[in-house]
Amino acid sequence: MNYTTLPNTSIKISKICLGTMTFGNQNSETEAHSQLNYALERGVNFIDTAEMYPIGGNADIFGSTERHIGSWIKKSGKRDEVVLATKIAGPNRGMTYIRNPLDFSKKSITEAVELSLKNLQTDYIDLYQMHWPERVMNMFQKRGVQELDPNWQDNIFDVLTIYDGLIKEGKIKHIGVSNENPYGVMKFLQESEKHNLPRIATIQNPYSLLNRLYEVGLSEMCMRENVGLLAYSPLGFGFLTGKYLKGIPENSRMQLFPNFKRYINENCHKATKLYKELAESNNLTLTQMSLAYVNQQQCVTSTIIGATTLEQLKENIDAFDVVLSDDILNEIEIIQELIPNPAP
Ligand SMILES: NC(=O)c1ccc[n+]([C@@H]2O[C@H](COP(=O)([O-])OP(=O)(O)OC[C@H]3O[C@@H](n4cnc5c(N)ncnc54)[C@H](OP(=O)(O)O)[C@@H]3O)[C@@H](O)[C@H]2O)c1
Repeated sequence: MNYTTLPNTSIKISKICLGTMTFGNQNSETEAHSQLNYALERGVNFIDTAEMYPIGGNADIFGSTERHIGSWIKKSGKRDEVVLATKIAGPNRGMTYIRNPLDFSKKSITEAVELSLKNLQTDYIDLYQMHWPERVMNMFQKRGVQELDPNWQDNIFDVLTIYDGLIKEGKIKHIGVSNENPYGVMKFLQESEKHNLPRIATIQNPYSLLNRLYEVGLSEMCMRENVGLLAYSPLGFGFLTGKYLKGIPENSRMQLFPNFKRYINENCHKATKLYKELAESNNLTLTQMSLAYVNQQQCVTSTIIGATTLEQLKENIDAFDVVLSDDILNEIEIIQELIPNPAP
């Protein structure tokens, strides 16, 4: 396992971060514990979760991902061996069962942190992330020029002040953003510098062969400013294993959650086919090439992988041993030029 540090800290984190959003829905508590044990055996020490998980969540099961991690922490006694990242949900009309309103007010952040601490059975969170911004902007599937959100009032100073208090109380150690754009990152950095408030250490955004939008704008900003990318969905929800090329397999994410359409489009299909041919002509699997690609990028601090079985988890961790040659990287660029960023 290769390691790095959480930017601007001396906290050692593995280059692979274990994503957990299947725990509590697709994966039982026992399976969640087996994944955590296996990942740790392989040297992973970085775990990502969120208050709203699991995927496909609803009022009955939200928080179960954190609770399964919490029961593992209690049972294993390994709290100090892992770097734990979780997230507060931003505004979303369909998720008011989490809190109402879902915002980054002092009341919401304090409640969210307390609930995560309880669920995770710990007294500190290493990295506390805002799952998505409060303002309406281009995240998830949105493209096109957005009108400026007339309802958003710049409260970043207030938000950072709340985090400062929580850091001083020892409840959270560091902060990060997610699904952000260059404007949001810049504002957070400006406000922390101006007022000597906590500085965001990370940005958790999608990054894969099917979505390299991070490379435009964010990559330079974050590398120069030492904000680390935690790359999520490196396999494009599983598309970059090639398993959707012949239809939708039983019990796969796309079958279980058909509303997760980000990667279902003709160009994703075409690009995936080309990437698969390229991988196989170089004696690699598409999964290996896709994960190795993300891992090899200078802008990536850690890659957040996800799995629903131990076999997938093993295959994915093993893929990080692969180093892509310059020839393969050049071929990847040719496909990217042909079908740039087919997934939003
Ligand atoms: N900040 C955010 O908004 C955000 C959004 C998404 C994810 N995340 C984080 O990033 C983590 C990873 O994201 P992700 O799950 O979307 O990553 P991903 O690597 O793109 O997709 C993982 C899914 O693909 C399938 N899969 C993985 N490995 C496979 C293999 N070797 N063979 C066949 N199928 C395989 C599995 O789904 P099936 O078995 O169900 O098909 C697995 O759950 C999440 O757990 C979460 O922590 C954050």
